[in-house]
Amino acid sequence: MSSTTSGTQARASELRDLLNRAAHAYYVLDAPVMEDPVYDRLYRELLDLENADASLISADSPTQRVGGAPAAGFSSVRHRIGLLSLDNAFNTDELEAWYGRLLKVLDREAGTALPMVGELKIDGNALALSYENGVLVRAATRGDGEQGEEITANVRTIASVPLRLQLENPPAWLEVRGEALIPDGTFAAINSERQARGEALFANPRNACAGTLRQLDPKVVAARKLDFFAYTLHLPPDWSGGPASQWESLDWLKQAGFKVNPNAALLPDLAAVEAFFEHWDEGRRQLNYATDGVVVKLNDLRLQDAAGFTQKAPRWAIALKYPAEEAPSKLLRLSCQVGRTGVITPVAEFEPVPLAGTSVSRATLHNADRLLELDLHAGDTIVVRKAGEIIPEVVRVLPELRPAAAERLELPHTCPECGSELVREEGEAATRCVNSSCPAILRGALR
Ligand code: IVH
Repeated sequence: MSSTTSGTQARASELRDLLNRAAHAYYVLDAPVMEDPVYDRLYRELLDLENADASLISADSPTQRVGGAPAAGFSSVRHRIGLLSLDNAFNTDELEAWYGRLLKVLDREAGTALPMVGELKIDGNALALSYENGVLVRAATRGDGEQGEEITANVRTIASVPLRLQLENPPAWLEVRGEALIPDGTFAAINSERQARGEALFANPRNACAGTLRQLDPKVVAARKLDFFAYTLHLPPDWSGGPASQWESLDWLKQAGFKVNPNAALLPDLAAVEAFFEHWDEGRRQLNYATDGVVVKLNDLRLQDAAGFTQKAPRWAIALKYPAEEAPSKLLRLSCQVGRTGVITPVAEFEPVPLAGTSVSRATLHNADRLLELDLHAGDTIVVRKAGEIIPEVVRVLPELRPAAAERLELPHTCPECGSELVREEGEAATRCVNSSCPAILRGALR
């Protein structure tokens, strides 16, 4: 075996273990240990390795399953119709590639314009609602897509979920899918109350929502004021007069009494999809709930049927994600900048990663204390963050991916510019070069 093959194998198994642990923490324990974009990026790396060499795929790979096991405390229910996930596109090239594949499957000429529906990708928690003869009889979490947890009593407390459909002649059964969420303002209020009571804070609105949905006491859920946007419905096959398109489905859901996100749009072609995506990149900042992309769905339901599904996702839909603001990267070296006043700033240099639309390969570590706090080691995999105009920073390291016997990184004892001993005064965060003829200090003075 060549050393690259064994290196690739080791990397795949490392990623598998880390991603599996992260998924367990997230789905089973409700205590995430990894940011979503970081998970997505590492997942993508594993998927790419497996795609390049199928012998790397193992049954325990997170790419071979869709979700996690239900937790104890709620009973597990099998969904009448499974909840699928969506494939992701991270840029317009991937969107166009998806569209090209779709046209091919549908036997349409390249360049054919097919109407699509653009919806916001709400960063909440998927719910499956079951109605019988117009009455809500069951609500469940997504779980692994086949089976979820039965949380009807909790979901009944969500004001935007109709307990009875507003239809004269409701179907014998109806399955509705949508996203439960906690608005940003409510999230802030929940966390400040928790802080006042000395309780652990929720990391973000989605985790707060997931935690709330699994509360054993529905009164607590009611007080948290969740919201719900419906986006998909399934009717009995013999039901006539149902919607013929996704656009009509949204309207049908509204008529039946559901809250549908008002920002969906009917898009005539791919150019309109791209414009919709661009528009909401800015627009989402004005919303009072989190979105991490847009979902694009082929409008015509007959064409959706014709396109069908891959193993885990529909071919007729794709999630187009906004550029991640956080990503993992591999630390290459620790360098130091000597400022105009002799202050030493440690800087992490790492493998370039695309973040918030630019390629990032350096991030400040601020000072010696921050370096100590991060516990940076040579060859570490780090989590880097850059949001919009914000200066890139190292959020944390992933010690699980640390090479064996890696050396701990510290500030040097001597100035990288002039070699003189560095000084740190008691009670000061800054480490300095105090040699008044240090070239860095002289350059600074000149400037
Ligand atoms: S459609 C087969 N529409 O995104 C259709 N999903 O990454 C699958 N999501 O599990 C879902 N907003 O929880 C759809 N407008 C939207 C959505 C949406 C958020 C979530 C949903 C799904 C996940 C897939």
